[in-house]
Amino acid sequence: MIELVTSVTKNGVATITMNRPDKKNALTLAMYDGIVDAMMAAEADTTVRVVVLTGAGDAFTAGNDLVDFMQNPPDLDGGESPVSRFLAKIVSFPKILVAAVNGVAVGVGTTMLLHCDLVYAADTAKFSMPFTSLGLVPEAASSLFVPAMIGHRKAAELFLFGDQFNAGKAAELGFVNEVVPAAELAAHVAAKTARLTALSPSALRLTKQLMKSATPDVAGRMKEEGAIFGRLLRGPEVAEAIGAFFEKRKPDFSQFAA
Ligand code: COA
Repeated sequence: MIELVTSVTKNGVATITMNRPDKKNALTLAMYDGIVDAMMAAEADTTVRVVVLTGAGDAFTAGNDLVDFMQNPPDLDGGESPVSRFLAKIVSFPKILVAAVNGVAVGVGTTMLLHCDLVYAADTAKFSMPFTSLGLVPEAASSLFVPAMIGHRKAAELFLFGDQFNAGKAAELGFVNEVVPAAELAAHVAAKTARLTALSPSALRLTKQLMKSATPDVAGRMKEEGAIFGRLLRGPEVAEAIGAFFEKRKPDFSQFAA
């Protein structure tokens, strides 16, 4: 059976790959668990200094698997669901976390980047947070981080319309450190991680810890977002939106009272 999450450690770098390319690496509950397990193993492995998250094929990830969303709506308000475990792990991960965004990054594919220390993107990568068009709200504390990063007005534009934006715009807004030609992404990330692995591990860990300790109540915001997200997931507006995606039509929200 194909492994939906792979982890390979080489030269002090653990590369965790979301590996479901035929579905644009859409994340099932089992995949969230797989990423968490791989991150925990990397955390415990004293030879690993840096972790890279990336996607197989031409996508980073299309975000949460929409079939899974409907069949197993996760509790996102801090419980033990695989999604909550994943979010808690990327927030508290003590080693340097690098994202190599090789293609489309939708929903949590974009919001998880807010918790990575360094993000490098292919020039072909596309980003979006289409929560409202799915009848949902932002998650992963993005409702806290994005307005703090770019101000309310620009955040409102991204969140309310949920439109896709390109890698250049992602860099301009602060989601991404650098954009490189797609064919050069792997080599670029390898060069950056080689520099990191040569540095003092204590200095890296403590520098990260100091920067992260300045952030306000991330867990509290995730719990707040998660409670709303979970309630909406079980409601009729999300059912309409996800039904529309698989029927390849636009959702019709006109039937719902404002
Ligand atoms: N959940 C489940 N399946 C998904 C998926 C998701 N989030 N995203 C893509 N897929 C599936 C498609 O249904 C399709 O399956 P099929 O080949 O059996 O028909 C396959 O992956 C390829 O997707 P497709 O839409 O044909 O690729 P594309 O290159 O035209 O578009 C995306 C890629 C990611 C832009 C588009 O698939 C998309 O918008 N997906 C939904 C993203 C989303 O809303 N995520 C949730 C955010 S909270």
